[in-house]
Amino acid sequence: MKNILLNNADKIEMPIVGLGTWGAEPAEIKNAILTAMDCGYRHIGMYKLVTPCLTLILDTAFSYNNEEAIGNALKEWFTSGKGRRADVFVTSKLPCVGNRAEDVERFLKLSLENLQLEYLDLYLIHAPFAFKCDSNFTPQLEGDGSFVLDMNDNVLTWKAMEEQVKKGLCRSIGLSNFNAKQLQNIYKASEIKPAVLQIELHAYLQQRELVKLCQQLNIAVTAYSPLGSPGANIYFNTKYNYSLSNFPDILRNFEVNEIAHKHNKTPGQILLKHLIQQDVVVIPKSINPNRIKQNINIFDFKLSAEELKILNSLDKGENGRIFYCLFFKGVEKHPEYPFICKLK
Ligand SMILES: NC(=O)c1ccc[n+]([C@@H]2O[C@H](COP(=O)([O-])OP(=O)(O)OC[C@H]3O[C@@H](n4cnc5c(N)ncnc54)[C@H](OP(=O)(O)O)[C@@H]3O)[C@@H](O)[C@H]2O)c1
Repeated sequence: MKNILLNNADKIEMPIVGLGTWGAEPAEIKNAILTAMDCGYRHIGMYKLVTPCLTLILDTAFSYNNEEAIGNALKEWFTSGKGRRADVFVTSKLPCVGNRAEDVERFLKLSLENLQLEYLDLYLIHAPFAFKCDSNFTPQLEGDGSFVLDMNDNVLTWKAMEEQVKKGLCRSIGLSNFNAKQLQNIYKASEIKPAVLQIELHAYLQQRELVKLCQQLNIAVTAYSPLGSPGANIYFNTKYNYSLSNFPDILRNFEVNEIAHKHNKTPGQILLKHLIQQDVVVIPKSINPNRIKQNINIFDFKLSAEELKILNSLDKGENGRIFYCLFFKGVEKHPEYPFICKLK
């Protein structure tokens, strides 16, 4: 397993392959984590783990409140003697309903409590926009179902994130879904520089300029949805009644499959290798033991310069984006909405 050295004073290393957990049910998550830990994963990337109420509001029939389940799985792994806290890299995120300076510590402590951990390795601001919520962290909605926007100040939120590092509640801090301008604003105003930018990144959305900017600023890039999030459209549809037209199916791309065949690997392994060969961290989500093993078994081959060129040419720019976040009705009207909006 290769590690990426973060820019913190502590010289923290982040494993280049992690396990994504978005959409994993509590009942599924324990086996997924134990399988992953047994086959060498040391980076658990979490998604919306501190937003059970947000999840409930978006779909009251189903909550993926898997943070406690992750905590239980980690505890079981630690007490089995197979590993210690220091052997695993745990990331979580400040939700959009908590994106304001005065709420940072409260949400971080909630995560820590659920996870039964004393510190996180990485805490990210989930997105640059914010929603108003009630005292249960439930987002407030307008009469037409759109989210009540909160005009947050990301620099102030960042200052509060810095305080959490100083208090020892997280070892490093970073950003997610911020665009180049927003990232630069935080970078300029920060005492503790962002260690990581987590963004959607895969063969159809390569965001080369943003990745280059991060490299120049010594900020590690984590790719979410590195396989093109094959289950996302069904999920968007069933949970939010939202669908993306022309949802991309990167795993079936002809060139990806040809390269996979040549290396006797799967298309998923080729997509992940394409990213890690550029020093981008990947956090593929899987609850399937075979795919969990497959997704980390990518260190025994190398893509040639010609193959990299072919994969680079698959970039569709903004047309390849899946996560416009438009399932948060009205989010595109927020002044900090980071993407070039594409309405469905
Ligand atoms: N910061 C953010 O805003 C943000 C947004 C989205 C995601 N994320 C994070 O990034 C992680 C990964 O993104 P993602 O879950 O959207 O998408 P992804 O990792 O690209 O794809 C996950 C999907 O692919 C399937 N899969 C996994 N490995 C496979 C393989 N080798 N071959 C074929 N199919 C495979 C999984 O099904 P099985 O489980 O059945 O294997 C699952 O449906 C998330 O879990 C979350 O932690 C962050």
